[in-house]
Order: sequence, then structure tokens, then C-alpha cells
Amino acid sequence: MQKIRASITAIGACLPDYILDNTELEKMVDTNNEWILSRTGISERRILKGEGMGTSEMGAGAVRMLLEKRGITAEDIDLIICATTTPDHQFPATANIIADKVGIKNAFGFDINAACSGFLFSLTTASQFIETGKYKKVIVVGGDKMSSIVDYTDRTTCVLFGDAAAAVLLEPDTEGFGIQDSILKSDGAGRTFLRQKAGGSAYPASMETVMNREHYVYQEGQTVFKFAVKGMADVSAEIMERNNLTGDDVAWLVPHQANKRIIDATRDRMGVSNDKVMMNIQRYGNTTNATIPLCLFEWEKQLKKGDNIILAAFGGGFTWGATYIKWAYDTK
Ligand code: UT7
Repeated sequence: MQKIRASITAIGACLPDYILDNTELEKMVDTNNEWILSRTGISERRILKGEGMGTSEMGAGAVRMLLEKRGITAEDIDLIICATTTPDHQFPATANIIADKVGIKNAFGFDINAACSGFLFSLTTASQFIETGKYKKVIVVGGDKMSSIVDYTDRTTCVLFGDAAAAVLLEPDTEGFGIQDSILKSDGAGRTFLRQKAGGSAYPASMETVMNREHYVYQEGQTVFKFAVKGMADVSAEIMERNNLTGDDVAWLVPHQANKRIIDATRDRMGVSNDKVMMNIQRYGNTTNATIPLCLFEWEKQLKKGDNIILAAFGGGFTWGATYIKWAYDTK
């Protein structure tokens, strides 16, 4: 028997109905469709509306779909991890709230915050629990309500982000499929270039922080761009090299969707053709922790058992990483 690996066996997603397109943004800030499309690749994004609606609302929707698709109940789940940068509250963990909403009663849950790399960090963490042999069904949710921390008077950031959640189920595999390898990196020296300055223990919320608009996403775009292009491409090349994969061996690249130009640079460095790159940034923008599982969800029917898939991300912190998966199932 081969070693136990964690393989993805089901995917669910939840997208809010409201579509915020570039035309509507043109009325809100000094921007235009041509600039947004050419610099980022984004045409529209989804926004979660409604009083009291947080990330858990979308996370719960994604988990319900996943359970139904796999034909299991909430009580079968052993562990739920939520990757999010926009938790419902500072505490308790959004994973707990999702579990409660869905009826997951026999599991423990916690959140992971690694900004846009959070889904990869969570997937790798979750896979360790499966590999021990003790945990059989682990859910990883990637979700963000970015609209809750986006300043819709700041044209440099408000065009970039959207809301969404998607979730994957991990189960043990002993036939060689599933998560093969992961490289995760972080460098706190990059923390000032992309962050939400206030609201934590260093700068708690006050009248002043609100007046200074310090509860919104702050980004030095060009600096983040330079680090992202290098970080995502380097780590993707590294994981291919150490697993003896060439561009031809890779069936799919699933990149974090922050900027089409960053994705193109990673694709070129890996030597994979454009038709192997999952890209839906044009419809959803940057949904932070949801981008990668949302791509897997949308491309699920095209994935074949045995496909070599590389997931890659870069985000605030800085954090970045790549994961190599051998896909475990064909979708009927
Ligand atoms: O997911 C987490 C990681 N995040 C990322 O990976 C994002 C990385 N950064 C980026 O994707 C890009 O830097 C941005 C898309 C954020 C910005 O694109 P850029 O090509 O780096 O533009 P820039 O910041 O250099 O700005 C160029 C010009 C500036 O005007 P001036 O100074 O040349 O007159 C900006 O003020 O574009 C202006 N500008 C805009 N113009 C129209 C900035 N935002 C807008 C806008 N509409 N929305």
C-alpha cells in the first residue's frame, strides 16, 4: 500500500448574485473600462449584499453544495478549516460559524489567515491531518467578502476585488493520487505593502482610525506586483523542478487571480500553454482566498483522473506558495 495522501474528492462554491461591472465603477471613481481591463484583466466582480451577511454566509453555501455533491452529511466531517482575510468577526473563527450554519457537529474548526495564499496554506495544513490516517473527511473553505474592507473611493484598489467562497473536501487516497508536494513561503518584511492597517491589536479601532480610512485595504500596487511576478513564478518553477515535471507534463495551472499579467508571467516561466491556464479573473476579480478553489470548481468537469495540476498563489504578508496535485477523479 502506498502512503496516505490527501485528495480532493468534491468541490462546492457560492457566488453572490450582484454583479459590479466596470461601467458601474466608472460612475463611482475616476476610472475606465479600458484601464481596468488592460492593467488587470477584470470586467466584473460579485458583491455580497445584505445586512449581517459575512464570509460565513458564502462559506456555508459552498459547503452545503459540496456535501450534496459527495452524497455525505455534515455529521461525517472531522475537521473544517476556513482560509479567510475577512472573517465574520475577529473571533470566533468563521470556520466555527460555517460549521454551525451547516450542521457540522462532529468536527473541530479553525481559521487560517495568510491573505491571498491562505487557501494553499490551509490545503497543506489540512492534508497533514489526512496523512496521519486519523482524519477521514476534512473541508477547506476559501472565502472572502472583500467588499467589506474595500474603499469604494480609492480607484487603485476598488476595481480589483470581489466576493466569493469555494470549498473542497479532502479524503485519504492510497493509490498515488492527491496532494503530492507543497512549497509555502512567507516574508514579513513585505507586510507594509499590502494590509489593513487598523482594527487589530496594534491599532485598535478608534474614531481616528475610521476617519483616516484605515480599516480598508491599503496596497502599494507596483511593489506588490514586482514581488508577486517573481514569487509566484519562482515557486511554481521550483515545485515543477523538484517533481521532475516539464510544461508538457502539467495538465493545468491554477493561479491565484490577482492580475492577468502576473498569471501570464507565471505561465511563461513554467512553459505551459495558455489553454492549460485556469483564468476567471475577468468575471470575479480577486476574491482573495476563494480564487483557486473557485477555478477548480468551474473547471471540475474538464479535470481527468491523473492530471498533474499546479496551484500557485502570492499575497499580502508577503505569503506565497505552490502545490502539486495529481487529480483523483473523473466527473461523470
Ligand atoms: O492578491 C494579492 C496580491 N496583489 C497583487 O498581486 C496586485 C499586484 N499589483 C497589481 O496588480 C497592479 O500594480 C495594479 C493593478 C494594482 C495597478 O497596476 P499598475 O500597472 O501597477 O498601475 P500603477 O499603480 O503603476 O498606476 C499607473 C497609473 C497611475 O497614474 P499616473 O501616476 O501614472 O498618472 C495611477 O494613478 O494608473 C493610475 N490608476 C488608475 N487609472 C485609472 C490607478 N488605478 C487606476 C484606475 N483607473 N482604477
